[in-house]
Amino acid sequence: MDGYQGMISGAFREMTYSDVDNIIYRGGTILGTARSDEFKTAEGRKKAAKQLKKYHIDGLIVIGGDGTFTGATLLSKELDIPVIGIPGTIDNDIAGTDHTIGYDTALNTVVEAVDKIRDTAGSHHRVFFIEVMGRNAGFIALNAALASGAEAVLIPEEITDIKKLVQEIREQNKGKRSSIIIVAEGDDGGGALEIMEKVQPHLKAYELRYSVLGHIQRGGAPSAFDRILATRMGALGVELLQNGSRDLMIGANGDILITHSIEFGIQQTPSLDLTKLSLLKQLLTKG
Ligand code: F6P
Repeated sequence: MDGYQGMISGAFREMTYSDVDNIIYRGGTILGTARSDEFKTAEGRKKAAKQLKKYHIDGLIVIGGDGTFTGATLLSKELDIPVIGIPGTIDNDIAGTDHTIGYDTALNTVVEAVDKIRDTAGSHHRVFFIEVMGRNAGFIALNAALASGAEAVLIPEEITDIKKLVQEIREQNKGKRSSIIIVAEGDDGGGALEIMEKVQPHLKAYELRYSVLGHIQRGGAPSAFDRILATRMGALGVELLQNGSRDLMIGANGDILITHSIEFGIQQTPSLDLTKLSLLKQLLTKG
């Protein structure tokens, strides 16, 4: 229970078939999770390894993002525990996989929220700055911008130019009732509020608003895509451990499941397809 923190404290419980009955439609995790500072120390990891031994656990499947994978490689290297990593994060920021579990659901939640905000924006002739999650990556922001027909997107992968943004908003306003600017939380220009405050002095005649979508992006029933991905990756994870594989992460190359070393997932930079950004800009300038 509760990820690496639960390993340290020995919070184990044997699971049976009925534990996973009727959970496929639920968000969150029945196992619980925690950001464990203790596990970041060698001492903490030793305690965790002792607990694994005590409970006769001889292999692990870890599901998570960057922090989870970093912990997994350390467990394997320092304490010789076989580990298989499954990428699960709404940020989609793990290299070696096109999709991480949870990302598609979060993206759909964002698109639904932006559609709703657009109703107010259009009715009131407003410019909205909508901040989305993604940590240091712009996957959610860029794809949500394309899917919701946003007028601009600000992502960490591109330097934000406030002057240019002001210009774009003025231009778009000539033919449109509203503007939606999607702002990735990790953008170099700041969050939605900060960006709005930066453009405000140059757009005095405009009604500006901002909205931070926050943790609604991390909850709710998973999309069909995520359910299928999670089921397939989970089954392969078990198979790999049973076959004696270790230190591998599972990735998706399109619809095909592949494996890499876990280190690959955290050391390489996950690549956002920036041609989508060019496409968005092209669509907006051809008007
Ligand atoms: O990594 C997933 C994520 O949701 C990020 O997008 C976000 O920056 C962070 O976690 C939020 O973490 P917390 O819930 O601890 O504030």
